[in-house]
Amino acid sequence: MAEPLISLLLERLATVLSQQVQKEVNLGKGDAEENIHNQQKIRCSFLGSPCFCLNHVVRRRAIALKIKEVSEKLDKIANERASYGLQINRATNEIQRPTTTPFFDESSVSGRDGDKKSVVSVLLAESSQETHGVDVISLVGVGGIGKTTLAQLAFNDAEVTAHFEKKIWVCVSEPFDEVRIAKAILEQLEGSTPNVDELPALLPKVSQSINGIRVFLVLDDVWTENHRHWEQLKPSLASCARGSRILVTTRKGIVATVMGTNHRINIETLSDDACRSIFNHVAFHDRSKVERERLTDIGNKIANKCKGLPLAAKVLGGLMQSKRTREEWEDVLSSELWGLNEVDKDQVEKEIFLPLLLMDDNNLGEASVQTSIQRVRHLSIVISNETSFPSSIHGAKGLRSLLIDSNGYRWLGATLPAVIKQLICIRSLNLSGSSIEEIPKEVGKLMHLRHLNLEGCRKLVSLPKTMCDLCNLQSLDVIRCWSLKELPQAIVKLINLRHLCIYDSGVAFMPKGIGRLTCLRTLDRFLVCGAGENESKAANLRELKNLDGIGGSLEIRNLQGGGIEDAAEAQLKNKKRLLCLELNFDSDSDSDISNLALENNILIEVLQPPSDLERLLICWYRGIGLPNWMMALTRLQELRLFHCSNLEVLPPLGRLPNLERLELQSVGVRRFDAGFLGIEKVGNANINEGEDARVIAFPNLKRLEILYLDEVEEWDGIERRVGEEDATTTSIFIMPQLRELKIYNCSLLRAVPDYVLAAPLQVLDITGCPNLRRRYKKEENGEDWHKISHIREVYIH
Ligand SMILES: *[C@@H]1O[C@H](CO)[C@@H](O)[C@H](O)[C@H]1NC(C)=O
Ligand SMILES: *[C@@H]1O[C@H](CO)[C@@H](O)[C@H](O)[C@H]1NC(C)=O
Ligand SMILES: *[C@@H]1O[C@H](CO)[C@@H](O)[C@H](O)[C@H]1NC(C)=O
Ligand SMILES: *[C@@H]1O[C@H](CO)[C@@H](O)[C@H](O)[C@H]1NC(C)=O
Repeated sequence: MAEPLISLLLERLATVLSQQVQKEVNLGKGDAEENIHNQQKIRCSFLGSPCFCLNHVVRRRAIALKIKEVSEKLDKIANERASYGLQINRATNEIQRPTTTPFFDESSVSGRDGDKKSVVSVLLAESSQETHGVDVISLVGVGGIGKTTLAQLAFNDAEVTAHFEKKIWVCVSEPFDEVRIAKAILEQLEGSTPNVDELPALLPKVSQSINGIRVFLVLDDVWTENHRHWEQLKPSLASCARGSRILVTTRKGIVATVMGTNHRINIETLSDDACRSIFNHVAFHDRSKVERERLTDIGNKIANKCKGLPLAAKVLGGLMQSKRTREEWEDVLSSELWGLNEVDKDQVEKEIFLPLLLMDDNNLGEASVQTSIQRVRHLSIVISNETSFPSSIHGAKGLRSLLIDSNGYRWLGATLPAVIKQLICIRSLNLSGSSIEEIPKEVGKLMHLRHLNLEGCRKLVSLPKTMCDLCNLQSLDVIRCWSLKELPQAIVKLINLRHLCIYDSGVAFMPKGIGRLTCLRTLDRFLVCGAGENESKAANLRELKNLDGIGGSLEIRNLQGGGIEDAAEAQLKNKKRLLCLELNFDSDSDSDISNLALENNILIEVLQPPSDLERLLICWYRGIGLPNWMMALTRLQELRLFHCSNLEVLPPLGRLPNLERLELQSVGVRRFDAGFLGIEKVGNANINEGEDARVIAFPNLKRLEILYLDEVEEWDGIERRVGEEDATTTSIFIMPQLRELKIYNCSLLRAVPDYVLAAPLQVLDITGCPNLRRRYKKEENGEDWHKISHIREVYIH
């Protein structure tokens, strides 16, 4: 009992204090300027629902001390009050609440047709006999249920607009300020506000200007239970014409009573259908049909968790807008946030919607932050060199996720150990992009930690051994940690690890025993370690054998440094979830170059990927031909070959039905011919007489890049051959979808064949090819420039 009471009082106090601080700042103008420069930009956000932005989280130390002092006094008062049996309600009301207006986005409303009808019909009905003056209608319901929305619907209804002579919208909120309300009414009636601040002077003016007019007054978000507040204002409204209406929205039934309500309308939660519709409207805004279809089923599940609260649906919808993959959506669905299932609605309202309603820069003081911070579950903060670390974080003992966006903040390394010690419940820690050089060993105590994101910590040189105690760790991301040369050996103890992301990091070898991490779903890079100083600590490629669950992207580096049997044992083709594979043969070892071609040929054959592979990159491969499995990759969309200097002959790539992008860079090919297109056997095909055959080479190719092919001269002759052979029965289509063609530094190439230029090309980019320039450049009177004149974008350099 005592704890909520104190936090309530502190919240009240904070508001008062922060107003005071604001006044001080305003008074000392010179100071204020400086304050803006020194302002600490701290963003707190409650992931998974509301965003809660605090600009002045850490204020002057003096104020913090003052708060401490006063809060002790308040403790005392609180105790006294309690001992007198006084009750204090509403922890939430004292915090500044946002202003509402009658304007809103009608397209995002759903499931309120019936409610709107009943409100409108009450507004338009004959006044009840016993009412003198004006009927009061109250909309009562919990926070986030859509009371304001319903009032807005009624306010903007055409019949309502026609029925009343004047419509007035006042956002009442807390505190109930009669002067402000009277002024707001006058402003909307008269178009100007009188220059008086005394209620006795204002009220007669209200009474006068409303006299005899049929008005519709909305008092949105009323909290006061003190009937005296209302009694002062109400008589001045009595002079309006019969049929006038006051519409009150409030969370509390008692408020409706105090306001002298004639009609009370209780707003119920929405149906799941309506909630889904709101959620979908927001979440799928700007998304393709395909995405929609892919995510709808999870979306429905998330929307069903909104408990019929439209605000929750909107907020969650907004959250999902930035989440693209199904996995991300599933993460939200299965996240801790839904622990709220068992708590009652009031609780939900307080924990989730209160911060949400604060969506603005409110002048909350530190005390309020301190009390709120204990309840914070998900927090992101932004700091920079010019600020100090927000000490209030130390109170955030309930944090489940923490994101520190530190902009190279130089003191983070010094601060981190103390912070980390506090985070006993933390599940997810994101320090990506920070300038830390090491992770404090205290991290090993965070037993609940599941996700550790260190992406782009370029100065990070090592990970502590204690990290290997984090038995619940599911993902570790050290992408682009260039200075990190080694993973701790004991990382292979983390048997729950699902995602190990080391792409583009400095990690020089894989720790021995990595094959034990059989839960791995992502392993984005495997470095083969040849003989050398690290051999005894390093995993052999054959350890991949046990990791059949890995999917997504995998780069294997230094393939040449390993043995052929090991590569075969890795059994890449069993990794059915793998979509993108990079095979990099590069090696520092000085193998005998003459043997390389043969060795590489055998090696690549045993590296057969799963047949569902979508993207393949092969680098520094010295073999003479591509592997036999290449043509089995019928789902391949992207094929890129870099630095394959011995590769003179290409297989019939034109037969890969889904290939959309082909890039050949520094490859030893000498000619593009019918074999490459996959049409050379057409003439001999078994075609029954009288039948038409269609052959399409590269049916889906959209982008073709030919770069640094020093040997290629010939890329023609195909039309003629085809012409001879297909005379009667076969139609041949070549690259019918090609949109973009790049040719760089192919100095011997003489011409681009007509079939390519006849494709629906939109972009043609020719650089460093003197022969082609002479032939196609208009400014050089190229003989064939007319063949490319239809292409929208042409670059010839
Ligand atoms: C981690 O933080 C960075 C910014 O500091 C952000 O871009 C990234 O999306 C965050 N990652 C996750 C998983 O939240
Ligand atoms: C912060 O300070 C460090 C060290 O002096 C510096 O390297 C870094 O660039 C600074 N960050 C910013 C955003 O100025
Ligand atoms: C061996 O590992 C260390 C990191 O521990 C690395 O710096 C070094 O380059 C590696 N040596 C080789 C030959 O890869
Ligand atoms: C590619 O061609 C450009 C333009 O002729 C030239 O400047 C560049 O040196 C060439 N690059 C190579 C690697 O040959």
